Parts: sequence; C-alpha cells; structure tokens
Amino acid sequence: MRHASSPLRAPFGKAGIWALAGASAAAAATAWWVTDSAPYPYAQHRLLDLPLPFLSWERLAEQLQPLPGERMLEIGPGTGLQSLQVAPRLGADGRLDIVDIQQEMLDHVMRRAAGSGLDTIAPTLADARELPFDDATFDAAYLVTALGEIPDVPAALSELRRVLKPTGRLVVGEFFDRHQIRPAALARQANAVGLHVIRQSGPALAYFALLRPCTSGSADRPHAGAADRCAVTIDS
Ligand SMILES: C[S@@+](CC[C@H](N)C(=O)[O-])C[C@H]1O[C@@H](n2cnc3c(N)ncnc32)[C@H](O)[C@@H]1O
Repeated sequence: MRHASSPLRAPFGKAGIWALAGASAAAAATAWWVTDSAPYPYAQHRLLDLPLPFLSWERLAEQLQPLPGERMLEIGPGTGLQSLQVAPRLGADGRLDIVDIQQEMLDHVMRRAAGSGLDTIAPTLADARELPFDDATFDAAYLVTALGEIPDVPAALSELRRVLKPTGRLVVGEFFDRHQIRPAALARQANAVGLHVIRQSGPALAYFALLRPCTSGSADRPHAGAADRCAVTIDS
C-alpha cells in the first residue's frame, strides 16, 4: 500500500504527522521571533490568531478608542486579529485602511472581512517607511507587534506623524522579542519626529503606548498642554 510504505507516515500515523507539522511550524515561528529580521512569514500565519499576553483587543481598545465615522490606519495587520475588531467600531461611514508589505496578509484579512460582511476595510500593499497617503489623512493609526519589524523605525514613525491629523492619535503595541522597541526607545524616537507618549499600559515586555502629535495640546482638549511634554520619556 502506498501510505503504509511511506517512510514518514509509517512510524507516526496521521495524528503524528499533524503533530510534527504543527511542531515544525511553531519551531519556525519561534526561531523567527527570536532571530530573524524579515517580515513575519505568512507560512506561519495561524500563530498570529493567538492573542499575546497583555496585547488583547480589549487593551488596544482602551488606548485607541475607535469612534464611528473615523478614518483609521493599521500598519502590519497580519491575519486581521485587530482589524476585524476595529473596523465594525468605525461604522458604515468610517474606514479602516490596512497597509502591509506582504500581499498574502492583506488577502487573508480581506477574505475574513468578506466572511464577516465587512466592506469598510481598504487594503494597500506598501512599506510603512513610505506611506502612499496625503498629509493629515487619518484620525488615528495603530500597529501591533509590527513597528519593531520595520527596518527603519524613525522613518516609519515620521510617516505616521505625517499622515495623522494634528489632533490624531497613534497606538503602538510591542511584545518582547528580538525586534521589540522598548518603551524608552519608542518615546525617544517618537519625540524626534514630533510625537509624544501620552500613556502606556502593560509591562515593558508587552505594552501598548498611546502617542499624539506634539502640537495636539490645547485648552479645550483632554490632553491639554501635551505639547509641553514632547521631551517626556518613560523608563523601561
Ligand atoms: C508579527 S506580524 C503582526 C500582525 C498583527 N498586527 C498581529 O498582532 O497579529 C507583523 C506584520 O507587519 C508586517 N510588516 C513588516 N514589515 C513591514 C513594513 N516595512 N511595512 C508594512 N508592513 C510590514 C508583516 O508583513 C506582518 O503582517
């Protein structure tokens, strides 16, 4: 018999083959988390569906506070773990632009969006270091475990600052791995491009930070005086 004579199948059986495949994928993904500087490989996309400790949707929502009608930008959506939560909150008049450097990731999110009846997500294949949007386009932007993967973080932050409205907000979620941007480094690099950290939630190893453009402080806004805090950094 064909299957019985297979050198791989004989010792393990069907369950063993799946376990082996799963273990190999997990090992490859772990190796990527620890060592690689390339974009997260689409081949390991299933692991992206597992929420990371301290980086749950609820914690992102606390910082991002998406509102109906807003135009929002997500960099590096992966398989859409966050996109599929954010887009419905923007309502029929809102729009979520997702930007990724890998077409497979964008296609994956759009398949899931179609399956959920969501038609307010707009995909764009682009590099975060050169965003194809006009200045002051977005009410808010966010990236979860994506910023540290971008080869030139200051360039990406500078682009995010450019495409955000002066009153806009940016949420960065970072998880401990080789690519992680530590909170103090984020605050420093953000300050250099005219963004500042308003607050941080979670431990330094897995945190969300809310940032705003340095010019956003004014007497009638909740973060009044924020412009003065552009030099503030948070210890990691
Ligand atoms: C680790 S995944 C995170 C996915 C998702 N945010 C999550 O939390 O599950 C990082 C994502 O960033 C994307 N990415 C990496 N470098 C990028 C770049 N320079 N520009 C745009 N996207 C990039 C990858 O393709 C991948 O989809």
